[in-house]
Amino acid sequence: MVDGTHRETEIVLEALYLWSCADDDFVMDEEQQLKMMNALMTDLKSMAATQLGEPEKSILKCLAAAASLSFNFYAASCPFVELMVANTVRSASSSDPTIPGKLLRLVFHDCFVEGCDASVLLKGNGTEQSDLANKSLGGFAVIDSAKRLLELICPGTVSCADILALAARDAVAITGGPMIQIPAGRRDGRASAAANVRPNIVDTSFTMDEMIKIFSSKGLSLDDLVTLSGAHTIGAAHCSAFSGRFQKDSHGKLKLIDPSLDTSYANELMRMCPAGASASITVNNDPETSSAFDNQYYRNLLARKGLFQSDSILLDDERTRKQVEGFANDEGRFFESWSRSFLKLTSIGVKTGEEGEIRRSCSEING
Ligand code: HEM
Repeated sequence: MVDGTHRETEIVLEALYLWSCADDDFVMDEEQQLKMMNALMTDLKSMAATQLGEPEKSILKCLAAAASLSFNFYAASCPFVELMVANTVRSASSSDPTIPGKLLRLVFHDCFVEGCDASVLLKGNGTEQSDLANKSLGGFAVIDSAKRLLELICPGTVSCADILALAARDAVAITGGPMIQIPAGRRDGRASAAANVRPNIVDTSFTMDEMIKIFSSKGLSLDDLVTLSGAHTIGAAHCSAFSGRFQKDSHGKLKLIDPSLDTSYANELMRMCPAGASASITVNNDPETSSAFDNQYYRNLLARKGLFQSDSILLDDERTRKQVEGFANDEGRFFESWSRSFLKLTSIGVKTGEEGEIRRSCSEING
């Protein structure tokens, strides 16, 4: 082991290169990824991580976790796991087209709170699900159904955390997005607390700095923030999710108070979500191609048609505008970036080895 700050910087840069892929044409196959990960891990283990700053530490934490996942994790123990999950997602989505959006949001809310450990799936008083920020999550039945199937074929083998990550990956692919190979081996957490949700989940009213802070605490960069926000190219939102952009006038009618929103789009939103609208009404996140995973989200942002304030801000802030423009003009570039960022998202704080457990049922911990 070479000691000193120079080597540490080198390792961090290598890590950054591996995960953020400074070069857009940079693609590694699985074997190369594993080799590089292993080399990095050997160095990192013997490195005094305490000498590093907070951003580097969170990247290293993310790397360390991701390195303990593997691509052929279920090859011997449950070779059909990916097929089973994909079939379940496909069949559920064909009867209910809202499923892909729900699954994709579910993995985000899982991974940002306690890491990707299926803690969001646990039911009961005071669990993550009971927090208001998780009230409108859905897709649980799809994960339960895949789990029941897998318990029949390979009992006690496949974690709910892996099923959720794979299902979200498939949700993107079946709506037209890139098919990404993701490693497996996540274990299920035994803890889930509502109190952990708010400090870790981003709200639509957050400033760019607040969003950056939460993302970077998960080892995710500004690029990842712009890229992963592209998830809003599918799915829907309740009126309350963007009601802060409007205000009631003296006649009780809504008026637009957020100048970053296109006025005709704002009128359309007020028509669909008038004052006093039912809490169950939803509006498509992407007004143009709501069920296709494409780069339309970024085109919408350029047209000032971002549904949430946290979407519009990506165009308004000069730190992120260029990337929004790049993705709006080049879907391939968005897809490449998506693949890298999704891999990072689904590797956040994973539990592996002896940690956690393999739940028998995704909604409750083993007795
Ligand atoms: C950057 C900060 C983010 C904020 C503030 C945010 C906020 C929201 C809100 C408020 C909704 C509407 C929920 C509802 O009313 O039912 C929503 C929907 C959604 N979000 Fe995000 N989100 C963010 C990032 C992400 C990320 C990183 C992903 C996934 C990678 C994601 C995926 C989705 C999806 C797919 C939906 C649609 C859900 C459905 O159709 O049921 N979001 N988001």
